[in-house]
Amino acid sequence: MKTILDFANKKNKKEKISMVTCYDYSFAKIVAESKVDTILVGDSLAQVIHGFPNTLHATIEMMALHTAAVSRGAGNKFVVADMPFMSTRKGLETAMNDVQKLMVAGAHAVKIENVDGHAELIKHIVESGVPVMGHLGLTPQSIHQLGGPKIQGRSQTAAEKLMNDAFIMEQAGCFAIVLELIPSVLAEKVTQNLKIPTIGIGAGSGTDGQVLVLQDMLGMNPEFNPKFLKKFGQGHTHVLAALNQYAEEVSSVAFPKPENGYE
Ligand code: KIV
Repeated sequence: MKTILDFANKKNKKEKISMVTCYDYSFAKIVAESKVDTILVGDSLAQVIHGFPNTLHATIEMMALHTAAVSRGAGNKFVVADMPFMSTRKGLETAMNDVQKLMVAGAHAVKIENVDGHAELIKHIVESGVPVMGHLGLTPQSIHQLGGPKIQGRSQTAAEKLMNDAFIMEQAGCFAIVLELIPSVLAEKVTQNLKIPTIGIGAGSGTDGQVLVLQDMLGMNPEFNPKFLKKFGQGHTHVLAALNQYAEEVSSVAFPKPENGYE
């Protein structure tokens, strides 16, 4: 997928959208070769790449640096970059400067968590020619306010608010919305009531697409096993085995062989 028009087309044709996060050039090149539709340079890079406990530690400098690396490897894939923690809460000028940094780094769109206090900003970004993806449900930048990584939208009031927030995002001009960790029935209802596509994570199969963190779906972290996650690879096992084989062959002088050397 190359443009936001492809997102709308997929929804119209009832074709599912596949998205993965990506944070660096070498993985971006592999995603570019794959059938995955689109890439998110998520602020989850604070955890996955930099080892912080949550996404609050992602800065605009980190987001722009990783977005630039990904965009150099992403080929024709549509790249969305996360607006980091607090970047949308310090006034229009700061927000627009950060949008500019991500777009100049090579993003094709930015993603913004939550809509409270953001509707006018989203309109302004869209009117400035920059596509915006929304993010509702579990919004990790509000992890302390939410009391942890809990399922959102379970009560009727919370479900109604989420539905209303999704409408506000759509009206503000978002071209798609990520729905994270909400009941499948609610995600399906939101999806059916919106014109724009929804992309779910921990939101069941009734959304217009799915997104997973690349390292999670590759099985890089054996300790991370939430119910919503399917591991499509045994990354940790394979990488560990390769490292151990390398170390053993260096130790036994099985590597390098004569053919690995130069005359
Ligand atoms: O930062 C991220 O990885 C995300 C996805 C979980 C949707 O926002």
